[in-house]
This record gives sequence, structure tokens and C-alpha cells, in this order.
Amino acid sequence: MVRAYLDVVRDTVCGLALRTQERTYSFDNQVRPMDINARIKGLDWPLIGISMIGQRRLINIEWAIRFVIVNGVMGDFIECGVWRGGSSVFARAVLKALNNNDRQVWLADSFQGLPKARTSNDNDNWSKMEYLKVSLEEVQTNFRSFHLLDDRVHFCKGYFVDSLPRCNVSRIAVFRMDGDMYESSMDQLFNLYSKLQIGGVIIVDDYTIAPCLRAIVDFRNWHNITEEILSIPGDESGRFWIKRKSIQLQKDQYLRLLPTTKS
Ligand SMILES: C[S@@+](CC[C@H](N)C(=O)[O-])C[C@H]1O[C@@H](n2cnc3c(N)ncnc32)[C@H](O)[C@@H]1O
Repeated sequence: MVRAYLDVVRDTVCGLALRTQERTYSFDNQVRPMDINARIKGLDWPLIGISMIGQRRLINIEWAIRFVIVNGVMGDFIECGVWRGGSSVFARAVLKALNNNDRQVWLADSFQGLPKARTSNDNDNWSKMEYLKVSLEEVQTNFRSFHLLDDRVHFCKGYFVDSLPRCNVSRIAVFRMDGDMYESSMDQLFNLYSKLQIGGVIIVDDYTIAPCLRAIVDFRNWHNITEEILSIPGDESGRFWIKRKSIQLQKDQYLRLLPTTKS
């Protein structure tokens, strides 16, 4: 029953189970028929589904949660960049189905889309994408629809640069990054990587988006992170690694990326 439940939740949040009605919202603002292969790989934007990461990256979330449980890695699940919240809904479903009552699920987002660029590492294009603007209330409604909004689900609202320094998560076992931009990725890494426990899993949704990839490469180089970057079976965009050693945060590198009032 656990398998059956999780299969249904997973395929519903990404819209695959809704084939009769589901469509794709294209980057040119057109609504088109869903391409099942694109949806499996999370290469399109669902019209009805509540996660755009696709089936394969959802399977990776379940794998990561089971991995930290089996290996006794303490800590919570956090996703930074949640859109309609579907992948975090699925993470909560996995923990509930496995009867794991200790771990919390954290969702960090502006709940009003992506910010304007602070530095030349990014541009303002993302901030203009109305389709990526989803309110906190809508995300909470989505959790309620799956009967999964409870006291183990927490929201950190605001742009990461402001919200993550005051996010109360203390120990992270699964850290899912999905903020698309260089600065959004750096805000996540500088504020949360130290909270990721040894043996925990860090998942990068946007490894094939150039600014995000550059953030990952820069952060890993600055901190001499050499853990192997792994692919997600059947997926093209996501990657992950398992944290094996602590780092000394190179805060000077981050200060250059902060708004001048913060540095
Ligand atoms: C591609 S969507 C995330 C998709 C989601 N993980 C899913 O399962 O469908 C990117 C999200 O990141 C959020 N985001 C990006 N940069 C941010 C920042 N600097 N601060 C707060 N939220 C940010 C946006 O508001 C948006 O909801």
C-alpha cells in the first residue's frame, strides 16, 4: 500500500496521472498538449500539476529520503524554490507513508516569483515570469488537497537572501535546490550547506541552467568540495551528491554577492 500510495501522489503532483486534462504551459505563453516524455523528465511546465520537476526527479526525492533514513542521517527535508509546492507535498507523503514522524519538511520561497538580479551573474528575465509566481496560500491549499498540511510542514517566506538566514531549520538531511539563478543558488548554499549533515543528500534541480551550474562549480571550488556529482536515472537536468565532509564557509566570497546594505 505504501508503494501504491506514493506512486499515485508522485504521478498526480507532476500531472502525469491527469492525462485526460493535463496540458503544458509553454515558454511562449501558449497552452499545448502534454508530451509524456517531457513530463517524465520535468522538461515542461504543467498546467494543472503542482510540480514541474517531473517523475524522475520525484523518484530521486523518495530515494534521497529513504537513503538518509536507512543510513541514520538525522535532519529534515528542505526545498528552496517550491513553485506550487508539489515536490515538497511528495516529500511529506514519503515521510508520512514511511511512518517517519521526526523529520520536518521545510519550504523556502518568496511566494511571489524570482527576484531581480543583484549582480551581473544574473539578469531580470526570471523576475518577469508570471507563471512562476505562486502565493503561500495556494501552496498551503495544495498541501491540504493531499491531506498533508500538518505541524511538520514549515514555510520560510521571502527572498532567500533575507529569509534563509532566519529560517529555523537546524539539521538538514535532504537539501533540494531549485532556484534557477546564480544568486538564488548561492544564497541557498551559503546559508544552508553547513546545516546539511554528513551523509546527507544535496540535490541540484537546475544543473543544466548555466548560471546555476556556475554557482555550483564556484561554490564547490571555493570550498574544495570533491564529492562525486551523480546523475538522476532517466533524467537530464538534476544532479546530486552526498556530503562526506564539513567545510569552512568562505564568507568573503558571499559578501561580494550581497546587496550593499547587507555587506
Ligand atoms: C522552478 S520553480 C521551482 C519548481 C518546484 N521545485 C517544483 O517542484 O515545481 C522556482 C521557484 O524558486 C523561487 N525562487 C527563485 N529564486 C528565489 C529567491 N532568491 N528567493 C525566493 N524564492 C526564489 C521562485 O519563486 C519559484 O517558486
